[in-house]
Amino acid sequence: MFHIREFREEDIYDVFVISSQSLTELYSLDLFIDIYHAWPQGFLVAEMRDIIGFITGTKIGDSARILMLAVQPKFRRMGIGTALLNRFTFVAKQERMRSLYLEVRVNNTNAIKFYQKHGFVITSQLDNYYTNGDSAYVMWKII
Ligand code: ACO
Repeated sequence: MFHIREFREEDIYDVFVISSQSLTELYSLDLFIDIYHAWPQGFLVAEMRDIIGFITGTKIGDSARILMLAVQPKFRRMGIGTALLNRFTFVAKQERMRSLYLEVRVNNTNAIKFYQKHGFVITSQLDNYYTNGDSAYVMWKII
């Protein structure tokens, strides 16, 4: 069984490894720390014995922007991403935010299906958004 809790700075290397395995874009350790300090309550991890997934976000006006969500490959399709997103939504609602949004690579079919299952809709496309030239969909959800 896993549980969701707030990120702690000692989790940084585990989160960094999951991010490097799961996300196409490369992010630095410093970036994770900056994101954490900007909104500690919006940085959550899923823990079994080890860290098996995480979600991070930032507050922009009355919206929460999901910056990264990833689950270790062998723990996918078990509800962990859903639990992370649900807790993140709960935190955002507690802080009186009214919507969630994110960018996702247009060819990331699994993540798009995941977010659609959770009520997000594609509202626009950002061409040439990622370092390798891939485009992104912007997806929104009112909470
Ligand atoms: N094929 C089809 N649908 C999928 C798939 C898949 N491989 N993976 C997830 N889904 C959708 C389905 O609707 C599924 O529901 P179902 O199992 O009842 O059919 C639901 O999502 C699964 O939900 P969870 O089990 O809660 O999701 P999971 O723990 O697997 O996490 C996540 C989903 C985070 C997208 C995971 O696949 C992952 O880590 N992917 C790699 C990293 C990534 O792409 N992250 C998103 C980048 S965009 C951003 O971060 C803003």
